Amino acid sequence: MGVVKDLGELYLARNYKRFPVAFVKGKGTRLWDEEGREYLDFCAGIAVCALGHCPEEVVSAIKAQAEKLLHVSNLYWTEPQARLAQILVENSFAERVFFCNSGAEAVEAALKLARRWAYLNHGPGKTRIVALENSFHGRTYGALSATGQPTYWEGFEPLVPDFVHVPANDVAALRSAVDERTCAVILEPILGEGGVIPLTQEFMAEARKLCKEVKALLILDEIQTGIGRTGRLFAYELYGISPDVLCLAKGLAGGLPLGAVLAREEVLSALTPGSHASTFGGNPVSCAAALAVLEKVLSTGFLDEVRLKGEALRKGLLLLVEEFPQKLKGVRGAGLLLALETRIPAGELCEALFSRRILTTAPKPDALRLTPPLIVTYREIDALLSTLREILSS
Ligand SMILES: Cc1ncc(COP(=O)(O)O)c(C=O)c1O
Repeated sequence: MGVVKDLGELYLARNYKRFPVAFVKGKGTRLWDEEGREYLDFCAGIAVCALGHCPEEVVSAIKAQAEKLLHVSNLYWTEPQARLAQILVENSFAERVFFCNSGAEAVEAALKLARRWAYLNHGPGKTRIVALENSFHGRTYGALSATGQPTYWEGFEPLVPDFVHVPANDVAALRSAVDERTCAVILEPILGEGGVIPLTQEFMAEARKLCKEVKALLILDEIQTGIGRTGRLFAYELYGISPDVLCLAKGLAGGLPLGAVLAREEVLSALTPGSHASTFGGNPVSCAAALAVLEKVLSTGFLDEVRLKGEALRKGLLLLVEEFPQKLKGVRGAGLLLALETRIPAGELCEALFSRRILTTAPKPDALRLTPPLIVTYREIDALLSTLREILSS
């Protein structure tokens, strides 16, 4: 390892545990380090690089926009932002969009929106937010308070008041937590950082029904599951329901920072001028990148391919589970957001893959997460599977 790691060790905050590699170049599903070694990427910047690294259409959209206009502030209109909002609205349940810069900011805006919507429509006191144990929604105070993993809270308390956490897929617990004081229920359709745990159809349907009954907003955090990751543009389509508020980030701009909150007019109108804002949110360059990403993801056949490749990966992983029952338990997830459920420490598998130059993540000790770029090929899926087989056999 060369100069970059040495510099980073000297000057950067030590809040990340990093793999011992510095990347200098990426193309498609491949990355290259300082020494020119090639890596196969089944991490994709943790489900960010939806079209792979430096996809031509995204890079040229960024270049063209960068030469025209970088930033003007949300005191003014810009074309990429308005066009992107139109595309998101035309392809979802929503009627309007608020743009920000990251996942945590999207969640933060959604939580503030829920409290303000309830305040304006139902008066003070309707402030409770129901979230899931083992969920992850980001690191800002609101998002952290929604996050149902106490290890992330340590040393940061007191959190934002009036958050309640219930176990995922526990319908009875959800029923007893949601009442007239609830202004929102926030859910990830698949708990990504929680180890790729899909919510059941029954749980999602109950959440939808309860929110309607008590006049609360159903917020879906699709920061990890959105933009084609599950083989649908949005994972809520898999459940046949619509949320009231949808949070997006990660894959939206294919590698540039961009977050979005989508809602119907009646809901998003609670954010009146001055009530919430972002200096950089929806900047023209990120929005131009996102337009290029969505054009590709929405093109004919693209999402069909994601589903087929997701099935190929799932089948291959299931064969490994059959072959190595003492080391593996099963497969969880949807589309190209999958986890191999392990009996051995998933972190060790992840390290072993890394030493063979394949990038993956292990969000939990029993979950090796696979989130390749959506343009991954069948050959690359086979390469991952055969490397996994070789590691598991040894
Ligand atoms: C479901 C979910 N919500 C929110 C976030 C936070 O996003 P960001 O890191 O962009 O703030 C993440 C990041 O992993 C996520 O997976």
